[in-house]
Amino acid sequence: MPQCFSVGPGGRLQGSIRVPGDKSISHRSIMFAAIADGTTKISGFLEGADAISTMNAFRAMGVQIEGPQDGKVVVHGVGRHGLKAPTATKGVLDCGNSGTSMRLLSGLLAGQGFEVTLTGDESLSGRPMKRVTEPLARMGAQIDSQDGKPPLTIRARSQLNAITFTTPVASAQVKSALLLAGLYAQGVTTITETAPTRDHTERMLEAFGVQVVRSGLTASVTGGVQLRAATIEVPADISSAAFFLVGASIAKGSDIVLEHVGMNPTRTGVIDILRLMGADISVLNPRTVGGEPVADLRVRSAQLRGIDVPEALVPLAIDEFPVLFIAAACAVGQTRVSGAEELRVKESDRIAVMADGMRALGFEAQATPDGMIIEGRGDQSSVFSGGTVHAHGDHRIAMAFTMAALRASHTVTIQDTINVATSFPSFVELSQASGIAVTRIDS
Ligand code: S3P
Repeated sequence: MPQCFSVGPGGRLQGSIRVPGDKSISHRSIMFAAIADGTTKISGFLEGADAISTMNAFRAMGVQIEGPQDGKVVVHGVGRHGLKAPTATKGVLDCGNSGTSMRLLSGLLAGQGFEVTLTGDESLSGRPMKRVTEPLARMGAQIDSQDGKPPLTIRARSQLNAITFTTPVASAQVKSALLLAGLYAQGVTTITETAPTRDHTERMLEAFGVQVVRSGLTASVTGGVQLRAATIEVPADISSAAFFLVGASIAKGSDIVLEHVGMNPTRTGVIDILRLMGADISVLNPRTVGGEPVADLRVRSAQLRGIDVPEALVPLAIDEFPVLFIAAACAVGQTRVSGAEELRVKESDRIAVMADGMRALGFEAQATPDGMIIEGRGDQSSVFSGGTVHAHGDHRIAMAFTMAALRASHTVTIQDTINVATSFPSFVELSQASGIAVTRIDS
């Protein structure tokens, strides 16, 4: 049997914790440092399996990288044209479970002078890639896929053409892939989004000395510029903090501080949604670190209310819906989420898998094609029964159901939790330290 979590019912969250580094920023720090001129020092790096997949890909392409050690990484950049064919891995770069690695690398590698194949695990192999391969083909890239799914074989191309493109799905991964390809294109590549998504690529390219012209939902880069090494401090990941934001909100008597959390406005949708539901979250010591806003968050338990989640907030909280569904179950009244069909093509089908898991814990939620309708039971002390749920190898599903146990009557067992290590390797230890009765069972 693969790894599982056993979570005793009840408890409350207390103390002060710092969750690990931001996954999106950690990926980008390695990618941009690798193609920069000079040596980049990174601190606060997420030592999770996804960011390590990115790191190993660049090592395979000849980039010398020291660490990670206690979140510190040193990358010896090889310059814009210094990457080499990954001959030691027979031309294959394994992206593991990481969609960010595969999609951003597709863009970055589309204009290199060597061929490479990007592979992934079972979950990643089922995820849609046409959203990046089609616009990249318009730039002159040649990428073979399995009917739009991985593996992706990217042929050698010494020069790409710039494009002006509007992304059909609100996706920072697509936007980032195209901006990275734009660095290797002739002319100005201009990408427009239909809704704002996380802008770490734009911010970090600026930190590496690349001018990104931004206006509303449009960002442009000019091909041919050199990146200059930078110093990067990665804040704690708000997507990991989100589990504790919800856990402390729903577990009576909780009062917890989450330190040094990234507060980039394209990521704080989870705070906006929880506050609309009546959560008690205070933002302490706001500050800016390396071009990204950061703060400490104090969360005290509160009786949440059901809401209609504004669709404009969906892309700004896209990774937080598994745990927001748990919050909605613990609210009083109805919560409706719509416009969130992207949840069906994440590491798992997060609408179906969450509805199934809640049902296994005695809670009926209504899955819809693009979201969920949840009749909250926050007036009852036990919202969920005990039982066994399947995480389908999806890290955020496993962590969301760990929080559900805070309002369960009996033990919650969560199966297939190994991929929690992709984004939050210390999740069990930090959860235990803050008052959750979770045990990891490796068998
Ligand atoms: C990410 C973007 C999001 C998010 C993923 C990380 C990124 O995906 O779900 O976990 O680092 O750019 P989409 O942009 O495809 O929505």
